[in-house]
Amino acid sequence: MTKPRVLVTRRVPEAAQVILRTACEVHTWDHEEEPMPQDELVRALRESDGALIVGMHRIDGPLMDEAPRCRVYANMAVGYDNIDVAAATARGVLITNTPGVLTETTADLAFGLMIAAARRLYEGQRIILEGRWKGWSPMFMTGQDVYGATLGIIGAGRIGQAVARRARGFDMRILYHNRRPDPAFEAEVGASYRQLDDLLREADFVVVLVPLTPETRGLIGARELALMKPTAVLVNAARGPVVDERALYAALRDRRIWAAGLDVFDEEPVSPDHPLLSLPNVTAVPHIGSASVRTRTRMAELAAENLVAALTGRQPPTPVNPEVLRQWRKERWP
Ligand code: NAP
Ligand code: GLV
Repeated sequence: MTKPRVLVTRRVPEAAQVILRTACEVHTWDHEEEPMPQDELVRALRESDGALIVGMHRIDGPLMDEAPRCRVYANMAVGYDNIDVAAATARGVLITNTPGVLTETTADLAFGLMIAAARRLYEGQRIILEGRWKGWSPMFMTGQDVYGATLGIIGAGRIGQAVARRARGFDMRILYHNRRPDPAFEAEVGASYRQLDDLLREADFVVVLVPLTPETRGLIGARELALMKPTAVLVNAARGPVVDERALYAALRDRRIWAAGLDVFDEEPVSPDHPLLSLPNVTAVPHIGSASVRTRTRMAELAAENLVAALTGRQPPTPVNPEVLRQWRKERWP
C-alpha cells in the first residue's frame, strides 16, 4: 500500500519526523529560519495528502481549492487564526492544533514579560551597555512592584489560568475577563470576574491571552488604554492585532500607561524600526511564548500525531473541526 504523502513546511525536531515516517512519505522544507515561499508551498501542497504547518502560513479557501488533494492541515500552534476553519469545514478539510502542551511555557513567558516590563530589565541592560550607568541613587531605575499587585487577565483560558497560578505565588489579587465567568477557576485561585472596562480600571497588570478572532481584533484600543492606570503594565502574549499598536504607542509615549511587554506584533517579524521599539518602556521579544526545547519538541510531536492519525483512519488527539471527521466516517460507511 502506498503511504500518504505529507508536507512539513519548516524544519521540525527529529522526534516529529520519526512519527511522520512511521506512516507517511515525508517532504520537508528543511530550513530553520527561511520561510517556504508561497508558490513553492502551493506547488508542494498540490502533491500532498496532508501538511504540518509551521509558522504563520495563511491557509484559506482559495489555497485549499488550489490543492484539493490535501485533506489535513496540522497547525504547529494552539492559535489557528492563520487558517480559515469555516472554509476548511465546508470543503471537508480537517484542521488540528496543539493545545495544552505549550500552556506552562507560554505562561512562564507572559509572567516574565510582566516582571521585565514592570522592573525595566531591558532598559537597565541598555543603560549598562551604553555606558549610561553613573551610580546608585534612590530613585534610579525605579519600577512597579509585581508582588501584591492586582493582575487582570483578559482571556483566562488554559494559558491565562496558568498565569494566574503563578500570580498566587506573588500574592497578587486576580481579576479576569472572558465572555463567560468560570466558577471552577474562581474557586481554584480566588479570581474575580470583571467586565472588560472594570478590569482595565482596576488592574496593575493587564495580560492579554485571548485568541485572535473577528471579535477580539482591536479589543484593546485607545478607549481601553485610556481606562488603565498610569502605573499599569500591559502584556500581550496573544496575537498582535488584539491590541491597536498605534494607540498603544501613543499611550506609552505619553506615559498614560507605565510600560508594555510584547511577544506578538501586527506584522511578524516586526521591523527593527517599528515605532514601538523606539520607546524605553517597551520590552519586546520575537514571538517566543512557547519556545522552550521541550515544548517546541512536544508541539511538533503532537502536530505529527494529529497528521498521522487523520491520514490513517484513527482519531487525531486535538482536532479543531471534529465535524469533518464525522463527515469522513459517514462517507466511508454510508
Ligand atoms: P484557550 O484555552 O482557548 O483560552 C482562550 C480564552 O479566551 C478563553 O478563556 C476564552 O473564554 C477567552 N475568550 C475568547 N474569546 C473571547 C472574547 N471575545 N472576549 C473575552 N474572552 C475571550 O486558549 P489558550 O490555549 O489559553 O491560548 C490562548 C491564545 O494565546 C491562543 O489562541 C494564541 O493566539 C495565543 N498563544 C500565543 C503564544 C505565544 O507564543 N505568544 C503561545 C500560545 C498561545 P470564553 O470562551 O469564556 O470567552
Ligand atoms: C503560538 O503562538 C501558538 O498559538 O501556539
